[in-house]
Amino acid sequence: MDELVITGGNRLGGEVRISGAKNSALPILASTILGGGECVITNVPRVVDVLTMGKLLGMLGVSVSHEGNRAVMRADVIHSTEAPYDLVKTMRASVLALGPLVARWGEAKVSLPGGCAIGSRPVNLHLAGLAKLGADISIEHGYITAKAKRLKGARIYCDTPTVTGTENLMMAASLAEGTTVLENAAKEPEIVDLADFLTKRGARIVGAGTDVITIEGVRELQGADHEVIPDRIEAGTYLAAAAMTKGDVTITHCRPAHMEAVLMKLREAGADVQVEKDRVRLTVPGKLKGTDMRTLPFPGFPTDMQAQMVAVMTLAEGTSVVTETVFESRFMHVEELRRMGADIRVEGNRLVVTGRKNLTGAPVMASDLRASAGLIVAGLAAEGVTEVQRVYHLDRGYERIEEKLRALGAVVERRKTAIAPKAR
Ligand code: UD1
Repeated sequence: MDELVITGGNRLGGEVRISGAKNSALPILASTILGGGECVITNVPRVVDVLTMGKLLGMLGVSVSHEGNRAVMRADVIHSTEAPYDLVKTMRASVLALGPLVARWGEAKVSLPGGCAIGSRPVNLHLAGLAKLGADISIEHGYITAKAKRLKGARIYCDTPTVTGTENLMMAASLAEGTTVLENAAKEPEIVDLADFLTKRGARIVGAGTDVITIEGVRELQGADHEVIPDRIEAGTYLAAAAMTKGDVTITHCRPAHMEAVLMKLREAGADVQVEKDRVRLTVPGKLKGTDMRTLPFPGFPTDMQAQMVAVMTLAEGTSVVTETVFESRFMHVEELRRMGADIRVEGNRLVVTGRKNLTGAPVMASDLRASAGLIVAGLAAEGVTEVQRVYHLDRGYERIEEKLRALGAVVERRKTAIAPKAR
C-alpha cells in the first residue's frame, strides 16, 4: 500500500497539463458495449478506475487495447453479461455496464455496489428508469438482474439529478424502440461528452447538458473516434493547491467553461484567476479570504471539489461555511485536517471553517478519492512532513499526481509500504 510523503511549504509554480476526465472516460468506455465496430478513444486518463473499467469490459468480452492515453475497443460480441462483486466493490461506476448490457444483449447481472466512504449511494433511480424502459428488474443474492427483449422508450422523471443514472438511462434509451424523455436529468459536462460520443456512433440525442434529454432509439450503433474532455476536478485540484501555497500556476488543456463555479469561489477567496481559451493562471496577490460554499449538481459548486476547497479555507482569513448537499457523510477529511491543526466544526451537513495562520504536517489517512486530494492540498502548504496513507484512493482518479506536483516545485515522494490495500 503506497503513501505519499509531502514536505510542505513550497509555493507551487509553473504549468501543469490537465488529463482527460475520469468521469467522462468511464461512461464512454462502458458505452462501447452498445454497438459493434471499432471505437478509438483518446485522452483517456491512465488511472486505476479506468483500468478497472477496462478489466470489466474485457471480462464481458469487449476487446480492449489501452496504450498510453488511447483506448481501442470493439464490442462485436459479448461472452458474459455479469459484472461481479469483486470488481464492483472496488468501483461503483461499474454500474454503468447495466444500461448498455440490457439494451444491447437483453440481460445484465451487476453486483449491487453497497456502501462506501461517502455515505449511502443508492442506484434506485437507475433501476426505476430501466424498469420504465420495460426492463424486468430483480435483486437477488446481492446482484441486480435486468432483462428485456427490447427496451421501449418512455418518459422518465428523476427525483434527484443523478450523473451516472442519467448516463445509464441515456445509453439504454439509445437502443430502445421509440422515444425516451429524461426529465430532471443531470447536466454535468461528462453527460454532454457521452452524448457527443453516442451521437457520433449514430444515436439520436437532443438536450444533453439541460435537464430534459430526448433520445430517439435506433436499431444499432457503429464505431467512432472520440477525444475525452479535460478533467475539471483534476484542474480544480491543481488550482486549489496553487491557491493554498500562494503559488503561480497555469493549468493547460482545460475547459474553463466547465469550471465557472470553482473559478468564482477561488476569486472570492482572494485569488487572481486569468482565463484564456484552454488555460487558467492562478496567483494570490494578497491574503486568502474565507468564503461560503454550497455543493450542488452542475452548474453548481461540485461536491468533488469540496474537500480541496475546505483545505484552502483552513488557511483563509475569517470563517467559511461549507454546506454539502449532494452526499451525506462526505466529511471524512475533516478529522484528518484537524490533526494538521485545522479549525473545523461539523454541524449536520455543514462545516464551519475558521482560518488559521498555519497547518502542521502529520500522518493522515485518506478515506476516499476526493478526501485524499484535500489532504494532499493541505499537506503542500503545511509546515513539515505530511504522510498521506492509503494513496490507492488517489490513484483511482489522479494521473501521475506526484510527477505533476513535483514539476510544479512540490516536494512529494511515493513510498511503498508492505501491507496490501483493503477494499473500499
Ligand atoms: C457521480 C460522479 C462522482 C460525483 C457525483 C456527484 C462518476 C463516475 N461519479 O457519481 O464523482 O461525486 O456524480 O457529482 O461520474 N442518488 C439516489 N438514487 C440513485 C442515484 C443517486 O438517490 O439511484 C442520489 C445520491 O445518493 C446523491 C445524488 O443522487 O445524493 C447524486 O448522486 P449521483 O449524481 O448519482 O452520483 P454518481 O453518479 O454516483
